[in-house]
Amino acid sequence: MSALSPIIILTGASRGLGLAVLSLLLSHHNARVTTLSRSSTTELQNTVKQYGEDRVLAIQGDVGDAEVNAGAVKQTVDKWGGIDGLVLNAGTMSIFRLDAVPLEYIPGYIETNLSSSIYLIQPALPYLRKSTLPSPLSSSTTSKSTGRIVLVSSGASSKGYVAWGLYSAVKAALNSVARTLAAEENLNGSGVGVWAIRPGLVDMQDLLRSSGAESMHPNEFARLKTAYDEGNLLRPEQPGSVLAGLVARGGPMDLSGEYLNWADERLLAYRT
Ligand SMILES: NC(=O)c1ccc[n+]([C@@H]2O[C@H](COP(=O)([O-])OP(=O)(O)OC[C@H]3O[C@@H](n4cnc5c(N)ncnc54)[C@H](OP(=O)(O)O)[C@@H]3O)[C@@H](O)[C@H]2O)c1
Ligand SMILES: *[C@@H]1O[C@H](CO)[C@@H](O)[C@H](O)[C@H]1NC(C)=O
Repeated sequence: MSALSPIIILTGASRGLGLAVLSLLLSHHNARVTTLSRSSTTELQNTVKQYGEDRVLAIQGDVGDAEVNAGAVKQTVDKWGGIDGLVLNAGTMSIFRLDAVPLEYIPGYIETNLSSSIYLIQPALPYLRKSTLPSPLSSSTTSKSTGRIVLVSSGASSKGYVAWGLYSAVKAALNSVARTLAAEENLNGSGVGVWAIRPGLVDMQDLLRSSGAESMHPNEFARLKTAYDEGNLLRPEQPGSVLAGLVARGGPMDLSGEYLNWADERLLAYRT
């Protein structure tokens, strides 16, 4: 494997957006990828078979468990000798109005969905800070590392969609994690870049099927349903190509820490 084979850890690759990112990393970026999800779907298993165990290490585990994340970091380093990038894509929708959310549900949801990002980032950072892949599209100098972290955010992070309160709060917090982490890595001069990306409307069959959608705002629900019914959802490969491109090639360091739409024209060069 050439030196230009980025070593990436990707969470939530068993389906949806994460599965598309995995395929693109393997087919377009010559990457070696560790995946982390609770289940192992046929699609994920087929991808492992297609590219082989030299290219994909599929770990089954829950990102809400700090030890599972630390274990994924260790196994990746043991197998390939380092880590160049992370894609934190695992996410779970939650539909409850704030006046009705079961109080006992809140700590678990916030804890798992927010803390999991730091559970993976913290043990991976020492390796990301040593990553020295060439980064053709970024202006970082050669003395710094070129480690990259991509957080999958959501448009909901800056909106007040009815019944999406906990989900939005966690995504807003992830944008905040991106800002702070970028500032901390900038202060220590590591060269590690971090970007929070809004993937747009991809697929939400589960959401449309769930009875909880009744608690949404009728207009907001109708907007999603119309996009679905009329085939106006994005293909996962569209935002997926930007996520894969950012983590495999290195993102623009002048935008490190920012929350960006996948279709932002400053990210045009990453689309495939
Ligand atoms: N779809 C959209 O339109 C949209 C819009 C904005 C933002 N997003 C964000 O994009 C990301 C991917 O969304 P998606 O639509 O592709 O979701 P999805 O189809 O529900 O897939 C979610 C992935 O995350 C994994 N996952 C969930 N909880 C996990 C846990 N505790 N531990 C390990 N893995 C876990 C799932 O695998 P297992 O179930 O096997 O664990 C699955 O691979 C999420 O962060 C979502 O919030 C999506
Ligand atoms: C989000 O929280 C829910 C509820 O606790 C949990 O089932 C799910 O695994 C969490 N997802 C992630 C990505 O942390």
